[in-house]
Amino acid sequence: MSIFRDLRRKIHQKTLDLPLSYYSEQRKGDIMSRMTSDVQEVEWSILNSLEMIFREPFAVILSISVLVVMNPQLTLFAMILLPVSGFIIGQLGKSLKRSSSKVQDMMGMILSSIEETLGGLRIIKAFNAEEHIAEKFDNLNQNHTKLTLKMARKADSASPLSEFLGTTVMVTLAFYGGRLVLQGDSSFTGAEFFGYIIVFARLLSPVKAFSTAYAIVLKGAASSDRIEQVLSVKNLIVDPINPKKIDRFSKSIVYKNVHFSYEQQTVLNGIDFTIEKGKTIALVGESGGGKSTLADLLPRFYDLETGEILIDDINIKDLTLNNLRSLMGIVTQESILFNESIFNNITLGTKNATKEQVIEAAKIANAHDFIMQMENGYETTIGDRGSKLSGGQRQRISIARAVLKNPSILILDEATSALDTESEKLVQDALFKLMQNRTSIVIAHRLSTIQHADEILVIQKGKIVERGTHSELIKLPGVYKKLSDLQSFSK
Ligand SMILES: Nc1ncnc2c1ncn2[C@@H]1O[C@H](COP(=O)(O)OP(=O)(O)OP(=O)(O)O)[C@@H](O)[C@H]1O
Ligand SMILES: [Mg+2]
Repeated sequence: MSIFRDLRRKIHQKTLDLPLSYYSEQRKGDIMSRMTSDVQEVEWSILNSLEMIFREPFAVILSISVLVVMNPQLTLFAMILLPVSGFIIGQLGKSLKRSSSKVQDMMGMILSSIEETLGGLRIIKAFNAEEHIAEKFDNLNQNHTKLTLKMARKADSASPLSEFLGTTVMVTLAFYGGRLVLQGDSSFTGAEFFGYIIVFARLLSPVKAFSTAYAIVLKGAASSDRIEQVLSVKNLIVDPINPKKIDRFSKSIVYKNVHFSYEQQTVLNGIDFTIEKGKTIALVGESGGGKSTLADLLPRFYDLETGEILIDDINIKDLTLNNLRSLMGIVTQESILFNESIFNNITLGTKNATKEQVIEAAKIANAHDFIMQMENGYETTIGDRGSKLSGGQRQRISIARAVLKNPSILILDEATSALDTESEKLVQDALFKLMQNRTSIVIAHRLSTIQHADEILVIQKGKIVERGTHSELIKLPGVYKKLSDLQSFSK
């Protein structure tokens, strides 16, 4: 049914919209289970209740009218009994809803665990951790089964419970009605009473069915709550209401007194620098110092707390995300590839690229040769996350992707770290060529790759501790000098 297709679509859309920070908190499997099994649960409960809504009310209304005509007093009495039963069924429904919510949460954990297992197979095997992982999964699985059984018992009890309540109502009614008859009230004879009971008995069955359906609906409501939770997450990284626009990057990028922290931990503590158009700035420094974070702030993967980042004097928060990100090409620390053809991986996000342009980009990234050696050339699919490729090959495809996008601003976060010295040299040459007419932020551990940067910033614990060109920094007896000495020693 199309509403469920739309619902799944809406959740998926939301997962695309939500900022990266959301996913550091949430398990992916949980979102997957909301997108699949929760939607299914809602689907099932709606189908069930729809049937009920269309089938029963007519019979119910007709029966009640007959009863009212036959004996209003007795009917009033019966109508008081019904809400009491309804309340009891309602309590059961609520408890069922809680259980169902727990079952669905558990399903989310199971999917997360599967996702992690699949993603980490190589390491699990290498560290003989199969048993540990299996045990973790068994626990979750066992819990899920337990909760499901508990829920099923509750759901199953809805039917006998309503049966019991129905009978109780019936008996009470017979008792009360019988007394009316025996009192010799001439308006209500024994025969009439008998007829009344028969009609009333017919009324019970749709009411019972309704109460069972109600329980099912509440169970579905648990899932719909879970779906709503995802859909209602507020995304703080959004487009401004009156966006400005940059068609061509023409002047500079300025970081002004930038502070940032993930939750509690301060990662950037007062960063100031300017990159003029066409220049290259390099970030070096110890691992965990905040280099990647610094670069992530520019495309607004995260929003800074205080300070501002300006592109051509416009605060990046005044641009639409689409505009902002269209200005830049990013090659990250890990190559993010999709299980599609090499061609599609390179053209990701670039519309209407011709085969020639793709080949050109691949050549610049030094990837063309190895691509041509593959079975189907550019049409070869590369496995999950590019698992059929070597680390260096993956990185070169990521670079080709950035080259094809032809952005004015380039962010390279350890873009050549997975390459051997030989291919690094080749790719580095390519990157140099690429960087010439562009403005780049380059992060690298190997200082040889950044020697030619216009300015090098040494980042330590979220602060710039040294800055200057390679030849300037090498003369200072500081962090850079030490790094440089260590690296020339290890060569
Ligand atoms: N998503 C996140 N949530 C919470 N903390 C994070 C997150 N990403 C990074 N951090 C923390 O922020 C700090 C800076 O990380 P960052 O990735 O910017 O370092 P880096 O300088 O790029 O290091 P490396 O050279 O190893 O890549 C680290 O201490 C890390 O623990
Ligand atoms: Mg990093």
